[in-house]
Parts: sequence; C-alpha cells; structure tokens
Amino acid sequence: MRLAPFKKGSIDPDADAVEAVDPTYGARHIAIIMDGNGRWAKSKHLPRALGHKKGVEAVRDIVRVAGEMGIEALTLYAFSSENWSRPADEVSDLMGLLRQYIQSDIDEFDENGIRLKVIGNYKALDSDIVQLIDNALERTAGNDRMTLAIALNYGAQDEMLRVVQNIAKSVKLGTVEPDQISIDQLSGAMDTAGMPPLDLLIRTSGELRLSNFLLWQAAYSELYFTDTLWPDFDKEELQRALKSFGDRDRRFGGR
Ligand code: FPP
Repeated sequence: MRLAPFKKGSIDPDADAVEAVDPTYGARHIAIIMDGNGRWAKSKHLPRALGHKKGVEAVRDIVRVAGEMGIEALTLYAFSSENWSRPADEVSDLMGLLRQYIQSDIDEFDENGIRLKVIGNYKALDSDIVQLIDNALERTAGNDRMTLAIALNYGAQDEMLRVVQNIAKSVKLGTVEPDQISIDQLSGAMDTAGMPPLDLLIRTSGELRLSNFLLWQAAYSELYFTDTLWPDFDKEELQRALKSFGDRDRRFGGR
C-alpha cells in the first residue's frame, strides 16, 4: 500500500480540523511496548499464536499511519532479550511472524521511503533471519521518510553493557581518555544512534513499567500508558497518545 503524501502543516482529513495542523504534535520519535497479544487472544478464546498474528497486523497499520502522519522515527519492541524464556513453540511462532513480516512488507517499506533499522543483538537470531534483516537493512538504507526500528533480542541493560564494554576497550587501547567520555558520545554509541531523541514512549495493555526498553533514551521522554491491548491499538489510539503528548509541558529539568 502506498502512503498518502504528507506535508507538515497540512490538514489530515480524518482528524478534527481544529487540532490537525500537525498530527504529530511535534513528536519526532515514538517508541511502543506492544503488550497484550496473549490477553487479546485469551479474551477471544483463541490460541496465543493468533494474538501475535493479529499483533503483526497492528504493527503494519501503525507503521503506515505513523509514516502518513510524518513521524520521523518509530521504534517497536518486538522481542526482548528476556523473551527467550518463553515456551519454545511461542518463540518459534514469533520468529516465524518476523520472517513473514520482513519478507511481505519490504517492498512496501521501500516504496514508501521507510528505512529499516534493528536495535538489539539480532545477530543471535537464526541465520536465515539475520540474512533477511541484513538484506532489508541494506536495501532500505537510503530511504528517508521514516525510520522503523525494530527491537529484536533487545534489552536496554544489555545495550548499555555493550556500549560500556566498547568504551572500556578504547580506554585500554589508549584511544579514549576516561574524563573525555561525554553524554553525547554515549548517546551516539547506543543502538539508536542517528535517530531523533525519543519524544514519546507508549505501552499498551495497562502494565505500568518499562521492561528494560530504551532506558537511556527515555531520560526525558513523555510516557503514555493505555489499557488497550496491542492488537486493538489503531490510528485513533495513536492520535489519542499524540494529543496527550501535545498537551504536556516538557521542561527537560528546567522550569
Ligand atoms: C506482548 O504480548 C507482545 C510481544 C511478545 C512482542 C510483540 C510482538 C508482536 C507484535 C508480533 C511480532 C512483531 C513483529 C514486528 C513481526 P504478550 O504475549 O506479552 O501478551 P500478554 O502479556 O497479554 O500475554
């Protein structure tokens, strides 16, 4: 599906005309903890696998909507470094869905100027998935409408540990002085390097925690929690989250 062309400041015909001048409300980078697939399936007496499958449909819709709104970067928590402890058949279902999603949507990413990025230690996934991801990263590297970062085998503590280990190696080699290590340098060494600062972090399904997601990047992000289960999260839900973001007074520690 080709996305509608978007001009910042244009009126989104689907939103209330008064507040639709910029549907992003100035948010450049949104991240989502997509929680509740299992409970969605359970509430409908369906197998968990179908909850995840419906979750992928919500991913597809939200990627399109975010691109149309003019969001610059969207980061989605698809598989955490702790998710390996789920039953093997569930891990395998999730990996199967990931394979399918990349294969089926890569053309659309390219057609719509979406640059794919992966955060987390994805090289530990099955080698065919690593290959698919590497091809998709290469193919979409020049796209600049929106960056879609998928977190795979991602954990914020693991990310920070990798950064610290790399810096420690440079210190040992004598190429970095400990006193010269800066916050900007650390930000630039995170998996999200090159992405805009994280403005809004959304978690679905009513849980009120960050679950080891983007702990460094969320330092001054606005947080938005909704009871909606991920498979039911749609354009209206995203608009509600952005409206709430637009109503916040961001002071970044100042007054
Ligand atoms: C949480 O639901 C969801 C996940 C484990 C991650 C999200 C995964 C998807 C949306 C599908 C795969 C994504 C891609 C991009 C291919 P849960 O199982 O924890 O739900 P519960 O807490 O209700 O049991």
